Amino acid sequence: MIKSISKNLKYKLKTSIKILYFRFALIALLIKDYRRYKKSAIGMKSNLSKSNLESSITKAYHSIEKGLSKTNFRYGFGYEARKKLIDNLMLYRKKYPMRNRRYLIGLDVLYSYVERHNGTEHNFKDINEILKSSRPLPNGSKGGTIRLLAKDITDSCKASFDEFSKTRYSIREFSSKEVSISQLKKAINLSLKTPSACNRQEWRATIIQNKNTIERLLNIQSGLKVDNGNLPTIIMVTSNASFSEGPRERHLAYIDGGMFAMQLINSLHFFGLGTCPLSACLNGKQDKSLRTLLNVPEEEVFIMFIAVGHYKKEFFVPQSERINLEEIIRNIN
Ligand SMILES: Cc1cc2nc3c(=O)[nH]c(=O)nc-3n(C[C@H](O)[C@H](O)[C@H](O)COP(=O)(O)O)c2cc1C
Repeated sequence: MIKSISKNLKYKLKTSIKILYFRFALIALLIKDYRRYKKSAIGMKSNLSKSNLESSITKAYHSIEKGLSKTNFRYGFGYEARKKLIDNLMLYRKKYPMRNRRYLIGLDVLYSYVERHNGTEHNFKDINEILKSSRPLPNGSKGGTIRLLAKDITDSCKASFDEFSKTRYSIREFSSKEVSISQLKKAINLSLKTPSACNRQEWRATIIQNKNTIERLLNIQSGLKVDNGNLPTIIMVTSNASFSEGPRERHLAYIDGGMFAMQLINSLHFFGLGTCPLSACLNGKQDKSLRTLLNVPEEEVFIMFIAVGHYKKEFFVPQSERINLEEIIRNIN
């Protein structure tokens, strides 16, 4: 009897010490995360590194490409994105070689922007200035939009993996056709095959089809403006942090959840539905509002919102050109 009590006490003590140790270790790791992030990310320090500039250029030209792809195109749109892009391109070329892919795509997006305004009263002096010295651009530096046909995409959904992958685009304009729950369930079911650490499967998919809730969600998320309210479905992907253990796994819910989100996007593509991942990088207020609106438990972290709908017969998407393979590959011998 006494033996079992002391065993029990020992176990409790050991657990308490482990908890204490884990909490300190977590603080130490969070401080490391903080230091790395404040030294690296844009807006966390006063200077801009090469990668910071490349990111700012990409974000700005992506925003212009989105504007160019809209059916309800607005002439002269995007003053701020244009200015940001030009300023960052100028900064970039002062310091770094102009062969850079993102730099060149940025220029081509500006070129597409001007071309789209040909024959109108709009005149973009600042853009013309930077473009003067830059034509022609090398192959592969394509920016702007591409025209797509729904039929071409849906025909390729069951094609080989490479063709399937190449025909997935982020879709920001949908037809008004409703998306059936059974179709969504098929896609979510297929995504259950996503790998996760120790097969934890801590992800959750919440289907949102109520027009009013979608509108409120988009207002808070503020990353997608849908013309005519044509967005029939959003799937919210969250991940349950209670499945993680100890300080080392503090990012695990995000890793497993991100993998699931990608698999879900591909599964929806497989079943002929268009998708657009929508950021769940939220500030405190947005987090609180969305938790209340969508009834998300505190133990779950937001991974992503996925806009889902049927394709319009014909539409434009941002070109979203990719960088060179050599830029991302590293060899360690
Ligand atoms: C984590 C994440 C967040 C995103 N958030 C948004 C968003 O808020 N609004 C939007 O229009 N697109 C968003 N996108 C879509 C990207 O802009 C798009 O994936 C990228 O430009 C590449 O284009 P593609 O998906 O057509 O290949 C997001 C993508 C990811 C992966």
